Amino acid sequence: MKIERSYPDTRMRRIRKSSALREMLAETTLSKADLIQPIFIKEDLKGREAIKSMPGINRLGLDILNDEIKKIIDLGIKSVAVFPVINEEKKDEIGSQATIENNFICEAISAIKKNYPDLVVIADVALDPYTDHGHDGLLNETGDVDNDLTLPALREQALVLAKAGTDIIAPSDMMDGRIKIIRDALEQNDFINTLILAYSAKFSSKFYGPFKDAVESAKFFGNKTKDTYQMPVQNINEALHEVALDIQEGADIVMVKPGMPYLDVIKAVKDEFKVPTFAYQVSGEYSMLKNAVETGLLSDDVIKESLLSFKRAGADCILTYFASEIAKDLS
Ligand code: PBG
Repeated sequence: MKIERSYPDTRMRRIRKSSALREMLAETTLSKADLIQPIFIKEDLKGREAIKSMPGINRLGLDILNDEIKKIIDLGIKSVAVFPVINEEKKDEIGSQATIENNFICEAISAIKKNYPDLVVIADVALDPYTDHGHDGLLNETGDVDNDLTLPALREQALVLAKAGTDIIAPSDMMDGRIKIIRDALEQNDFINTLILAYSAKFSSKFYGPFKDAVESAKFFGNKTKDTYQMPVQNINEALHEVALDIQEGADIVMVKPGMPYLDVIKAVKDEFKVPTFAYQVSGEYSMLKNAVETGLLSDDVIKESLLSFKRAGADCILTYFASEIAKDLS
């Protein structure tokens, strides 16, 4: 066959000709201000302790917390989400530690805010790190989480966190009506500028597996599920309904979680409501990518690619265990 030239009507490749053009015409970018680093802080721990199911991520003791926070800030990251790993003996049926003023995580938050007042600290509201059954709320006689009994506990938990200096209260429990009850409590107690980041569309996902190991609640939780309060993975209209309620109840920012398997939900939420929308690239997503990179199966460029996909879908910020690692390569 004779090879002859053929001429396309439109040349899309013209705009991809050089890296300068590709950068100039990029529709989305990833910056350090988009990244939020989740950290695990463990009671009674000295130094750091590796989390087996999350290679590269450690539980931190209070003694090294300041140094670790300084490293994160020096990388240009503006925000951390703190998760407590509390002493096993302190866990009980009703998660009593969660609502005690100056409890372990409050102590950690106060220390962070004292030394680094400009760092934006996000703290979860949910009882699972504190309960001996690992559920996010209080149980009724049948063993299911009782919505209305749980609400006052979440309210108190939010208040002790706000008192400790938390900038953003993040209810991750999925109880109905919790945003309103927390917003009212904040207003009535002079925390009018404390933000609420609602885990609005939080799916009942198996991608949270490594997190349960990280906060040492795996053995307490066993193979139960959170299906009666977290969302069915099949549903997107329901996710929009959840987000609408949380905005109406007073959320400043809404979140979709997990991230990569739910990019359609992020896009739908942003398109529909146009409010600040965060995404959480959760523990299972982290470990999957990290393992693939560490074994050489994939190049480490997949990390940035995964984070850009969140921006393309419309997320304003991403909670990701890769935050520090990726901030190093971002200008
Ligand atoms: C607690 C909570 C969970 C995560 C964040 N807050 C676990 C769960 O709901 O089971 C998961 C985060 C991750 O997997 O990285 N309610």
